[in-house]
Amino acid sequence: MGALFCSGIISTGSYVPDNIVTNKDLENIVETTDEWIVTRTGIRERRIAHANMATSDMAVIAAKRAMKESGLAPEEIDLILVATVTPDNNVPSTACIVQYSIGAVNAAAFDINAACSGFIYGIITAKQFVATGTYENILVIGAECLSRFTDWKDRNTCVLFGDGAGAVVISRVDSEVGILSQYMGADGSGGELLKVEAGGSRKPASLETVEQGLHYFYMDGSEVFKFAVRIMASAAMEAVKLAGLTRECVDYLVPHQANIRIIEGARKRLNLTKDKVYVNLDRYGNMSAASIPVALDGAVREGLIKRGHNIVLVGFGGGLTWASALIKWAY
Ligand code: UT7
Repeated sequence: MGALFCSGIISTGSYVPDNIVTNKDLENIVETTDEWIVTRTGIRERRIAHANMATSDMAVIAAKRAMKESGLAPEEIDLILVATVTPDNNVPSTACIVQYSIGAVNAAAFDINAACSGFIYGIITAKQFVATGTYENILVIGAECLSRFTDWKDRNTCVLFGDGAGAVVISRVDSEVGILSQYMGADGSGGELLKVEAGGSRKPASLETVEQGLHYFYMDGSEVFKFAVRIMASAAMEAVKLAGLTRECVDYLVPHQANIRIIEGARKRLNLTKDKVYVNLDRYGNMSAASIPVALDGAVREGLIKRGHNIVLVGFGGGLTWASALIKWAY
């Protein structure tokens, strides 16, 4: 069945904690240098949530900001999707906590776990519901409190991550704009490269798992890096091709914010000038599923994205997963 309705993003919102941790601060915690972090990653500082805040708290603020801009009342939201790998709890879902907090009493709600690709997985999922006429207004949120799962003694990972949340409202839009293409993929054979070993049904939490630090994120950085460079560029190109366009048609790229060197690879492949690529990892680090929606909101607020622009979103992450979409901006 073909799409009955076109869908697009009609508003954005985001939230990052006000607590800034600089590379210099990290020099006091682990054996690292500002110079190493900046040259290898592009990250200069990141936001870390205060102890009284969990993922859903950040998600709710981002969601309320996106809702306000959309002009929709909470009761008009039909579905809430939260992309996260750092949920408040395993059960209930963070999406259900958000649903209750914002008073979206008519909304169904569930979480999506596709790591850093989760937000794009979310908007692609939302598109299907709008296209078929099942739902009209969907809140898609990417939110992470990675600092709670970070080993602050591991310099390989603790310099990379930050906390935050971004949200969009996806609704019906005019036929000439909206989400023109989408592309998702996964390769579970690479699951070991980025994982939290314990706390699930395979290896439940125990005194030993805590002592061994198995509840923290582990990452084989250089292997993920190789995968990321390859997939970021090819997934971005795939979204362009699937939309029936060429790379010359791309007005703006909003990539996952893991490493400036990975972003540069994709930028060159798409033949874009630097001013057409949004980068905020210098300020926020890698916020996993929150990176792309926070970046998107930043780009909108800075007036870089306008109605009719062809915007490419592209991400990759643990799973392994990857996803991209080409959106002709609707407002
Ligand atoms: O969003 C989810 C997906 N994640 C990513 O996209 C991350 C992808 N990976 C990366 O961005 C990079 O691989 C890293 C930034 C994590 C690492 O950069 P790299 O250029 O791949 O470095 P490396 O892993 O090859 O490590 C080089 C050296 C090692 O020392 P030896 O073994 O060569 O003596 C590390 O121990 O750098 C060392 N190192 C550090 N040195 C100072 C690792 N972390 C640090 C650090 N400070 N923070």
